[in-house]
Amino acid sequence: MTTHPDYWNQLYKDEGRPGWDMDGATPLVRELLGLALPLGLRPGCELVVPGCGYGHDAAELEGHGFAVTGLDFAPLAIQGAMHRYGNRVAWSQGDWFATHLGPWDAIFDHTCFVAMDPARRPAYVDACAGHLRSGGFWLAALFHQVKGESGPPHAIPMEEMRRLAEARFEVLHLAAATESHPRRAGREYLMVARNR
Ligand SMILES: C[S@@+](CC[C@H](N)C(=O)[O-])C[C@H]1O[C@@H](n2cnc3c(N)ncnc32)[C@H](O)[C@@H]1O
Repeated sequence: MTTHPDYWNQLYKDEGRPGWDMDGATPLVRELLGLALPLGLRPGCELVVPGCGYGHDAAELEGHGFAVTGLDFAPLAIQGAMHRYGNRVAWSQGDWFATHLGPWDAIFDHTCFVAMDPARRPAYVDACAGHLRSGGFWLAALFHQVKGESGPPHAIPMEEMRRLAEARFEVLHLAAATESHPRRAGREYLMVARNR
C-alpha cells in the first residue's frame, strides 16, 4: 500500500538506492526557480519539499538561499537525507496528509504528487493549500507519461492537473519541462500555482 510509510521504507531498505533516486538534485530545480522567481517567489522564504527522499532537491534549494524543510514519512529516507546533507535542511519525518504542518511560503514537489494513489489527488491538493500561507507557491514537476503500466509513479495529463489544482490554486504556469534529466526527457511538465 503506497499510502503507508512501510511500503516506501521497505523499498529504501531492500534497494538502498531505489530506482527514482538520481543521486543528486533534479535539473528541474533550476528550471522551476527560473519560472517562479519572476512570478513572485522570494529568495529566503520558507519552503518545504514533501516526499523528499534522500534530500537532494531540498539541499540544492537550501543552496539557492531558501529556508528548507525536507519532509518524508519513511524513516530511512530521512536518515539517508541527514547522513548525506547534515543539518543544512530541517528534516522532518511526517505524513503530508497530516493537518498540523506548516505553514510554508512554497512547496517544491518533485516525484511526490505523482507517487500518490490517484484516488488521493483531491486530498493532496487540499493538503498543499492547507500547508501554505495565503499567496504561497506550489512548484511541481509532474509526469504526463510514465514507463510501465501500473504506478507509482502515476502520470496525469496536463489539463487534468489544471482542473485539480484550480480548486484551490491559481495556475500561473503549466507547460512541458525542457531541462529534464535525460532518463526522463520528454515525459515531464512543470506547474507553478499560487494559493488562493
Ligand atoms: C518516488 S519517491 C521520491 C523521493 C524523492 N522526491 C526523489 O525524487 O528522490 C516518493 C517519496 O515520497 C514519500 N511519501 C509518499 N507518501 C508520502 C506521504 N503521505 N507523506 C510523506 N512522504 C510521503 C515516500 O516515502 C518516498 O520517499
